[in-house]
Amino acid sequence: MDKITVKDKIFKPYISDKELQESITLIAEKINHDYSGKSPIFIGVLNGSFMFMSDLLKKINLQCTVSFVKLASYEGTATTGKVSELIGLNEDLEGQDIILVEDIVDTGNTLIKLYEILEEKKVNSIKIASLLFKPDAYKKSHPIDYIGKKIPNAFVLGYGLDYDGWGRNLSSIYVLDEK
Ligand code: IMP
Repeated sequence: MDKITVKDKIFKPYISDKELQESITLIAEKINHDYSGKSPIFIGVLNGSFMFMSDLLKKINLQCTVSFVKLASYEGTATTGKVSELIGLNEDLEGQDIILVEDIVDTGNTLIKLYEILEEKKVNSIKIASLLFKPDAYKKSHPIDYIGKKIPNAFVLGYGLDYDGWGRNLSSIYVLDEK
């Protein structure tokens, strides 16, 4: 596969479509096993998770529901500082088993904010599935339950992930070409 230019940067092929699907199959098999007899709700974090969610869900054989959320940040009062709000969540989550579906976990800030907001909703359990994980960038201690691939601390693009809004439609993952 060839290098591509997205906006003003050059990216090179990194994880193929086939490799992605193999990782997603492994995650789906684990979830099917772990949640056997349960009916979890899959909650995807927009925008990046839409492709992963779509391919993952096709491999899930549980009775389940699906929803998407977006994390919006705004300035609160002087005492509250930056406040994060979940938008798009209309379901009653009380007593539910939640599987949070993320495209990538980098520092973990997004994930922990989501986790804290969801925990307040008296849910039964929360687990996290992320297609990609950057262990060297991760600043939190919370475990990521289902990981597709661990990658080094580099900027990646495609399969839902963007560079300034571009490149989400690519069917495989590319990495920034530093040369
Ligand atoms: P975190 O809060 O630092 O873990 O970042 C999570 C979010 O940052 C992801 O959901 C992505 O939207 C974005 N992100 C982190 N790393 C990358 C990357 O390498 N490429 C594209 N987006 C990224």
